[in-house]
Amino acid sequence: MGFNAADDAGVYLLTPDLALIQTVDFFTPVVDDPYAYGAIGAANALSDVYAMGGQPLTAMNIVGFPCHGDLAVLAEILRGGAEKVAEAGVVLVGGHTVQDDEPKYGLSVTGVVRPDKVVTNAGAKPGDVLVLTKPLGSGIITTAIKGGVAPPDLVERVTQVMAALNKAAAEAMVEVGVDACTDITGFGLVGHALEMAEASGVCFRIEAGRVPLIEGTRDLARMGSIPGGTYSNRAFFSGKTRMGEHLSETDQLLFYDAQTSGGLLIAVKEEKADELLRQLRRRGVNEAAAIGEVLEEEPGGIRIEVI
Ligand code: CO
Ligand code: CO
Ligand code: CO
Repeated sequence: MGFNAADDAGVYLLTPDLALIQTVDFFTPVVDDPYAYGAIGAANALSDVYAMGGQPLTAMNIVGFPCHGDLAVLAEILRGGAEKVAEAGVVLVGGHTVQDDEPKYGLSVTGVVRPDKVVTNAGAKPGDVLVLTKPLGSGIITTAIKGGVAPPDLVERVTQVMAALNKAAAEAMVEVGVDACTDITGFGLVGHALEMAEASGVCFRIEAGRVPLIEGTRDLARMGSIPGGTYSNRAFFSGKTRMGEHLSETDQLLFYDAQTSGGLLIAVKEEKADELLRQLRRRGVNEAAAIGEVLEEEPGGIRIEVI
């Protein structure tokens, strides 16, 4: 696919009707429960294959763990990852572990896709509807977890959101046929939307009030639970973002929030948008929402508007 469009995974043509998809992702713990951390790390790594419209086939563990660490914790991380990989119908074929002061876990994933069915981030067209399949808030909430100020029910809720596979969302997307897709991770909604808009040569307008948000996120953000990555995203992307005047600083930060294992952001033809939402619901992706639209590039260049 080339490196210019910042796509989610590498795609390599094997034969005229079969292409290989490869990706790798790993990170430090985002929750205290090692089993949940393993599941989230695996769901996040698999997501880049789903975001390309592909089918993951095999995965390998990538692990860093302290040499005097509790091996029961390591076993739980690996169990969480393995069970998530099995849920995806993917075969875990091996992996590699190194000693590391701070634990790290993730996967390298290999999948396949039909070359004419690859969903890149470069195909969004003016008039398309933007659909987001998971609520935002994971960066702010996991920062609150690290600070010891996240209520237990919110910890459970954000864990469930981050550990959810993007498999069903991708299946709905492939069945309906869409113009472009990426997954929302560290650059936040605005950063990944901007990547997609730039690759596609269009502008995006997002309606702030339609963006699904994990309940409780705004309160934690008001209390100052903002990850460093979210501020970096704002510094990096705000020059190409126009925020509605009614949005408070806290509200604006929600859209820059660095996500872990976020949902898919899909650009779909307007006449297919309802069908996509129906197919998502049918597969249990109940929090998916239409959040905006694709506009023609304006004088002054590509930008994201959050109104
Ligand atoms: Co990605
Ligand atoms: Co990735
Ligand atoms: Co070897």
